[in-house]
Amino acid sequence: MKQPGLFITLEGIDGTGKSTQHRLLVQYLRKLGHRLRATREPGGTRVGERIRGILLDLSTKRLAPMAELALIYAARAQHLEEVVRPSLGRGETVVSDRYNDASLAYQGYGRKLGVETVRAFDQIVCGDTQPDLTIVLDLDPRIALARAQGRETRRNSRRGRFEAQGRQFHARVRAGYLAIARQEPSRVKVVRADRPIAEVQAEIRRLVDDFLERESEVGSRGATSR
Ligand SMILES: Nc1ncnc2c1ncn2[C@@H]1O[C@H](COP(=O)(O)OP(=O)(O)OP(=O)(O)O)[C@@H](O)[C@H]1O
Ligand SMILES: [Mg+2]
Repeated sequence: MKQPGLFITLEGIDGTGKSTQHRLLVQYLRKLGHRLRATREPGGTRVGERIRGILLDLSTKRLAPMAELALIYAARAQHLEEVVRPSLGRGETVVSDRYNDASLAYQGYGRKLGVETVRAFDQIVCGDTQPDLTIVLDLDPRIALARAQGRETRRNSRRGRFEAQGRQFHARVRAGYLAIARQEPSRVKVVRADRPIAEVQAEIRRLVDDFLERESEVGSRGATSR
């Protein structure tokens, strides 16, 4: 059964600006008075952060794609149990920096495991707990990876396993996200990320406002018909 809270996810290849836009969107929704749970994947729980460490660690050289997928869904199962479902059940708005579309795009398309395989995991682990609105930040992989590398240099940190993949890998992941958006146009909105941060955020807020308006109409219709 659909839980009372709203579930919004931000997606896109590495370096498109998800975490930046996530922070700004969370600020906006809090100002609007939403009871809000900000979270991220892989991670979002202690177990999940440890799995994230394995997934992003460059020294994890020979992780089989299927092992990668299973680890991600293990982290997601924990995240659903500890964070997402309890928050949605309390009527909170959950805003996650990545969720299950990332597995379709990265493991299904990027690692070429295929959509069917990823959907099989998804049905078992996520079931009905699917995002209500997904924003895909779309950007040429060359620009996105340059941004991610710039961030790493500034922070004096190293790039992770996914960023270290070539441009072709990220081009497949990007194509995967765009395919998902074409298949589910009412849930998934593509936002061009080759613009200043404030402009990208303004478009995201417009999309979220439209979505909230639609949801409140559905909600009030539901209330009168009962
Ligand atoms: N619209 C933008 N224009 C220019 N630079 C940007 C823009 N958005 C974000 N950046 C910068 O690009 C870098 C990557 O942004 P951010 O960390 O938000 O991306 P991300 O999608 O979360 O990356 P990852 O997938 O690696 O977590 C940061 O240094 C950020 O300040
Ligand atoms: Mg990020």
